[in-house]
Amino acid sequence: MNRKIVILGTGGTIAGTAASASDHTGYTAAQVGISQLVEAVPGLAEGSCDLVTEQVAQIDSKDMSFAVWARLAARVSHFLAQPDVQGIVVTHGTDTLEETAWLLHALLHPGKPVVLTCAMRPATALAPDGPQNLLDAVAVAAHPGARGVLAVCAGVIHGAPDVQKVHTYRLDAFSSGDAGPVGYVEEGRLRLVRNWPEAPVHRASAAIKKVVEQQDGSGWPRVEIVMNYAGAGAGGVQALVAGGVQGLVVAATGNGTLHHELEAALLEAQAAGVRVIRATRCLEGRVLPRHGDAIADSQGLSPVKARVELMLQLMAGPG
Ligand code: SIN
Repeated sequence: MNRKIVILGTGGTIAGTAASASDHTGYTAAQVGISQLVEAVPGLAEGSCDLVTEQVAQIDSKDMSFAVWARLAARVSHFLAQPDVQGIVVTHGTDTLEETAWLLHALLHPGKPVVLTCAMRPATALAPDGPQNLLDAVAVAAHPGARGVLAVCAGVIHGAPDVQKVHTYRLDAFSSGDAGPVGYVEEGRLRLVRNWPEAPVHRASAAIKKVVEQQDGSGWPRVEIVMNYAGAGAGGVQALVAGGVQGLVVAATGNGTLHHELEAALLEAQAAGVRVIRATRCLEGRVLPRHGDAIADSQGLSPVKARVELMLQLMAGPG
């Protein structure tokens, strides 16, 4: 039985086209199909695994929706369960890649590699970065023992818990912050510097079922992000609570600090039954919890990942 690598396309700049080869910003994302992207990479089909492609979506990832997430989670889950599938690669836009990475990691905690990859330049660029990223992602997916959800960009392997887009233009647009990357892909070979990422094990399978079954994206809890900043007040939170929000993540300043007016509104929301989580808007570090904290911290997750996590927790329900 030949091992398979499944490559799922969702769009992004990696599948983008521009009118001019020198245009790296005025392009349209999500234009080229996944089979065409794969065919365009010399040597990709020559590895030890058979390649299978499937177009799951074709979107600019700024427009990521619950429906696409549900479809993607269902397809990843389906292929992970096939004994002959060694690993999965997902082509994705860079803009919300870290959110999808956390969703798949926390939801599916895969024992096989699920490797998200992307590009900062469109497929029509003079020197596109997508083909090398795709080749590297397949090398990671084919690596014996690889597991968990990973992101591969510019030769760097990041784990889903730590990966974050940190640059608007540079090809090496992602960082794992002070945790550091999982490793590097060099000439098709992996140099690992950390363990494969571990996923939280508390996830109730009911959450998986709900997400995967609701293919229209309905039924996801409403969780929003608010931010602390100079002069932050109570109005935004009060409007969200009045609008029926079920969860709030606050991107706090520094080590979780909040303007006293915003904090009072969040505590009021919490007392009214809204789940509230405190993350930090700092790019590196995490909110260090203290005994008796009135608002729980995000356990190191960035605000956008903490939001995904809170949605999953609300879907899973108590216990
Ligand atoms: C997107 O996120 O789909 C567009 C931007 C990118 O992929 O770099």
